[in-house]
Amino acid sequence: MTIKFILNGEDVSVKAEGETRLIEILRGSFKLMGAKAGCLSGRCGACFVLLDGRIAPSCLIPAFQVRDREIITIEGFVQTNEYRDIAAGFAQAQVETCGYCETAKVLAAEALLEQTPRPSRQEILAAYRDVRCRCTEPESLVAGVQAVAGIRQRRLYGRGA
Ligand code: FES
Ligand code: FES
Repeated sequence: MTIKFILNGEDVSVKAEGETRLIEILRGSFKLMGAKAGCLSGRCGACFVLLDGRIAPSCLIPAFQVRDREIITIEGFVQTNEYRDIAAGFAQAQVETCGYCETAKVLAAEALLEQTPRPSRQEILAAYRDVRCRCTEPESLVAGVQAVAGIRQRRLYGRGA
């Protein structure tokens, strides 16, 4: 079947079996390698994308489910001001990332802040429940996301925000 969707802001179409997983389409058809094959069972975050603005494990999403929807991968997201907020906040709070977890940590922050501009500690920890990284302390992630929230508020609303 031919499946049309929006990928990083562009209308695209791809021929695929309906059950083919989105991660295979992104990596195979579009050569977008930012979504990585980790657990392939929805429990690590290595393959995360934004699906209509919400975090989604591309290893679990069948192709037919993306028809007419909007996908943003890390490759598209790094072009945005929102990404620059996250990079600055993570650097300020010294949040560790690596090739395995960076996509998940960045996109989880974006999905959370889009819904909740000033998240609580509990909301941040809940947003990172499915992001696997044994090297980063939870409190470091909390500090990082709160730093991002402050940077974004100041960018959008000025110094007094
Ligand atoms: S590879 Fe998809 S969540 Fe782990
Ligand atoms: S810093 Fe990447 S897995 Fe922990």
